[in-house]
Formats: sequence, structure tokens, C-alpha cells
Amino acid sequence: MTTQITSLEEYKEQYKSSIENPEAFWDKEAKTFTWFEPYKEVCKWDFEGPDVKWFLGGKTNITYNCLDRHIETRGDQTAILWEANESRKNGKNGSNGNEERSLRYTYRQLLDEVCKASNMLKSLGIQKGDRVVFYMPMVPELAIGVLACARIGAVHSVVFAGFSAQALADRVNDAQAKMIICSDYNKRGAKNIAVKQVVDDAMDLGCNSVSNVIVHKNTGGEINWSDDCDKWWHDHVDDQSTECQPEMMDSEDMLFILYTSGSTGKPKGVVHTVGGYMVYTCYSFKNVFQYKEGDVYWCTADIGWITGHSYIVYGPLLAGATTMMFEGVPTYPDAGRFWEICEKHKVNQFYTAPTAIRALMAKGDHWPEKYDLSSIKVLGSVGEPINEEAWHWYDKHIGKGNAPIVDTWWQTETGGIMITPLPGITDTKPTYAAYPMPGIQAVLVDKDGNELNENNVEGLLCIKHPWPSILRTTYGDHERCKQVYFSSFPGMYFTGDGARRDSDGRIRVIGRVDDVINVSGHRMGTAEVENAINEHDNVIESAVVGYPHEIKGQGIYAYVISQGKEKDDVFRKEILAVVTKEIGPIAKPDKIQFVDDLPKTRSGKIMRRILRKIASGDVDSLGDVSTLLNPDAVEKLMSNK
Ligand code: WTA
Repeated sequence: MTTQITSLEEYKEQYKSSIENPEAFWDKEAKTFTWFEPYKEVCKWDFEGPDVKWFLGGKTNITYNCLDRHIETRGDQTAILWEANESRKNGKNGSNGNEERSLRYTYRQLLDEVCKASNMLKSLGIQKGDRVVFYMPMVPELAIGVLACARIGAVHSVVFAGFSAQALADRVNDAQAKMIICSDYNKRGAKNIAVKQVVDDAMDLGCNSVSNVIVHKNTGGEINWSDDCDKWWHDHVDDQSTECQPEMMDSEDMLFILYTSGSTGKPKGVVHTVGGYMVYTCYSFKNVFQYKEGDVYWCTADIGWITGHSYIVYGPLLAGATTMMFEGVPTYPDAGRFWEICEKHKVNQFYTAPTAIRALMAKGDHWPEKYDLSSIKVLGSVGEPINEEAWHWYDKHIGKGNAPIVDTWWQTETGGIMITPLPGITDTKPTYAAYPMPGIQAVLVDKDGNELNENNVEGLLCIKHPWPSILRTTYGDHERCKQVYFSSFPGMYFTGDGARRDSDGRIRVIGRVDDVINVSGHRMGTAEVENAINEHDNVIESAVVGYPHEIKGQGIYAYVISQGKEKDDVFRKEILAVVTKEIGPIAKPDKIQFVDDLPKTRSGKIMRRILRKIASGDVDSLGDVSTLLNPDAVEKLMSNK
């Protein structure tokens, strides 16, 4: 089994050896997995390409390591523990009230279900290398489907089920997916959301690569049906055999594509491959959460994001853990839901996002106080910087001062957790992700790429040496991968984040330094939102920036130049509707300011720095605006705010 660090001395030793000899370090970890054929070389890399390969020549299957290899020792242990949305109990929205509230899949049952789904994929013509897009709520079939793809070597691409038809179609087309797997409806809080309808709309927009849409019956609500293309999950899965040989996958074969926002208008498909991702997610899971035999681990993320991929599905299953999947939302039926579940399932490790912590904190301390949270040993935070107040509330009211908080910094591109305290092993400090994981050479550089080696300094966060789960490319556009991550500072991976190092060497990640904003832990490209707003016929130009938001971390502030329209709330609503249609409700601006002009440099570039300051109300430090093409625009923006 993967090494589990148990003391500060061990962490220091492992860190040191991982830097001095990364190959020997990762070779030792990789050897703890089952390889059908051993790899011949541990790592080969060149950041200029970029061309990074781990465990070269090795053949394996990640699902064999997640499932088959555990059967003998833990076949009857719960692998996935699923907690349903409360509305199923209440008999609301088409539920009969007798539905299962929690479902358990043992490792053996999960393997059977994955094999059945794998056979379904094969029977419908899905082959190794084909792309399959998932557009589903947090039901067990999503995890099963994803693993089924991995078993037969198909490449999964999960699209968060809050994205619009247009956003879904863009991703399906970029990936040239052969199949979409969705549900009929998604249960979200008290509502049922028509999911299949969104897929139908996406298909109408033109998804020519798709030959089948597989529909999982979740609520049994009314849906449109195309006999040519639509197929029920149950019709094609239920009678399949529970045997399916895992495909021999090369370590560097593609495992999945996950779309994420960057600084341009088009989301990019981050590509992860089998071997390195497997080794790193398992290693980081075991160490960051200090998972012990028998523990119940719960990550509240959605599988539509990288956190769900790495730390609901792959990391925990590779480590033989019991991982919980939750269908609901934090505040339904009330703000005690998370804590009720922690009590009910005696959750030992709880991993969530700062935005959820802030939202629940705002509902009052009496909610967590109603429940017994004594099982919790480790608390995790991910997705955005956690502010000091939320950190202390989490520590005091959820961890009762006894559960170390791991503030985990990482990205879709890094595949796994990169900088984090190790609970009970290294110290913690509010708002600090603190220490790099073994194998992670995190450095701060100035804008010219000079390494800042002293403490008490702020800079741009880069990583020097590849780690096993680093992205390999952006799907279909390797040049973009090179430009975005490997060109700013030759020889290093650039994260896009700014960070500071305190006097003891702990790292605090401050936030993005590019045109990406982080809304409730969701990454959003400002250009993407601008493109959407500009789709409105009366919009001439727009500029979008982030601003501090009490619950969301960052809110979206849009400056809009328009014509031929009353600048009122009706127009604002229309703009929100366009954004919802183009991207989805998560990208809706929180504030829209109608303006006549935007501050521009003499070369015509919008000065976002100034827009950010005005949006944040930080107008005393605007700096010199006299070099602008139109300095008076600034004054007008401020007075009309
Ligand atoms: C931000 C999520 C501060 C950061 C796993 C990063 C964080 C982006 C933290 C990646 C943290 C994530 N502290 N900032 N603990 N974790 N971020 O790809 O800006 O959805 O670049 O991956 O979230 O977001 P992504």
C-alpha cells in the first residue's frame, strides 16, 4: 500500500528524498499498485514541449487498482456510501417517499455494477479512446459510469450539470464525444431540474459526433424521446454480465478530459493520463486526509469538478476507503443538513469549500450545535482562499478545536493536492495552505522569473519539477497548453496564482493573477462571461472583473456599454438570461453597471486593474490614470457606480 506519513520527521525525510531523487521516490510509490506489465522508466520530461511522461511502458487499469485488487481484502466493505437528496424522503416532486435514503455499494457490488456499465458501453460501440460526456447529478450511476469508461479505456469528460445547453454542446464538440450519458431530471433541493431537456437542446445546437444519449431514470418525469438516439440506462445495463476484463492501458493513455476556464473565452480540456494520476491521487488522498481503516470520508464536491474526480472517486477508491457521495445541497431542507449527515454516518474526514462554510456560518451557530460531530478528525477546505473568519468558525464550530484543517491548494491541471498541511503532522495557520506535498517543488518568482528564495515575500506561484498527475496537454490544442502553463517562466509550470511565503516558510495562496475569477470555488474566465454578455443584441462592449463577495469569495461585476435600450432592471434581467443561456446560472453577474466608456490604454486595451478597484470600492489607490486614452472615463464610472 501507498506510504502514509505519520510524523513530522517522516514528512521532512520524504520531502527531502522526493526532491533529491524524485524518480526513486515515485518508483517506490508506484510499485504499490498493480501493473499488468511493469514500467521501464519512471519519468521523462521536458517542460519546453511540454512533454511529460510517467511510468513509461507500464500497463495497468485504474479500475483494477480501484476495485479488483481490493476484492479479496475488502470485498464486503462499503466503497461508495450514497446519501440522497432529502426530497426523496418527503415524497416531493414525483418521489413516492419510500425511496432509498442511503445506498451502500460494497467493493464487490461496485465492481459488478462497473462491469455491467462497461459491457453496456461496449455493446453500444464505445471503444478504447472514444470520448463519453457525462451530464448528470450526484447519483451513484455517475461514479459507476465514469469508472466503466476507465475500465474499457474510453475517455470520460464530466460536464457539471449546471452548465447550459450551449456550454454542454461546446464541450461535446471540442471532445468529439460519441456518447452523452445523462439523467432525466436532477433533484436539487426541493426542485426537479430537467436535465435531459438540456441535452436535447445541446443536440439541437449540433453535436454531430454523438450517436447515442443514455438516459438514467432518476425521477421518472416526462421527457422527450428520440428513438434513433436515446437509450435507457436500465434497458442496456441491467442484464449485462458482471464480468468485464479491464482494458490494458498504457500508463500514458488518456484517462479523462475535464474542461476548465482560462483567460481566453474558450474553456480548455485539461487532459490527465492513467498511471501518474493514479499514483498521485492515491498518495495524496491517504496522506492529506490521514485516512485510517474503517473511516468514513466525505467530500461534498460535485463530480463535475476536479475535486470530485480525484477525491470522491479515484483517490479514495484507490486507497480502499469508504467514500460518501451526496446528492443534495448544504441548505436543504435546512442549514443543518451537512452536520446531520456527519452525525448519521459518523463522518471522520469532511472536505468542503470555503463558500459553503461561509454560507452555513451566516445561518448561525445553532445548526452545527444540534448534531454530534465528535467523529470528525480532519476538516478540509478547497477551491479558493479561505478567509480567516471562516477558518476560525470551521475550526471552532465543526472541528471543536480538535480537528486540524487542511487548506488544500491545487488545480484541475495539477490533478491532485499540491500544497497543504498534513493533519496532526505539520502545523496549521489560518488562510495558509502551508507546505508542499512530497514531490512538489513550489517556488515563488518575480515577474521576470527570478526565484524569490527568501521568506516574507510575495510572488507568482510556479512548480519546478513535474509530479505524476500534472496535466499532459489541453485537448486538441497542445500549443495552448504550452503557452498558458509553460511559456511565462521557462522550465517551470506556472499556476496563474499569486502567493506569499511567511517568515516560517508557509505558503498562502492569494488568488489568480490572470483574467480568471473564482466564484464560489468555480473558475470562470472573465472573457467567457464577456462573450456571453456580448451576445445580447443591444450590448456593444462589456468588461467583467471579480470583486470581493461575502459568501461567494468573489462576485462577478460587469461593466456594459449598450445602445438602443433603457438602462434598467428589465435590461439587466435580459443580460442575466443571456449569460444563463450561454454558460449557465453560475456565471450570472452579481452586479451590472451600464457605462458609456471603459478606461483604455493608448493601445486600446481595457484597464482591468482600474475596473477591479472601482468594483471593489477601492478607489483611493487607483494610481496614475493620466496615461489612459480616456482618463475622464474613470471619474464617470465612479460617480455612476
Ligand atoms: C484556487 C480546484 C487558495 C486557485 C481544486 C487555483 C485556491 C484555482 C485553493 C483552481 C486554496 C484552489 N487556497 N486558492 N486552498 N484551492 N484555489 O481548477 O486560484 O477548479 O488556481 O481546482 O482555485 O481551481 P480548480
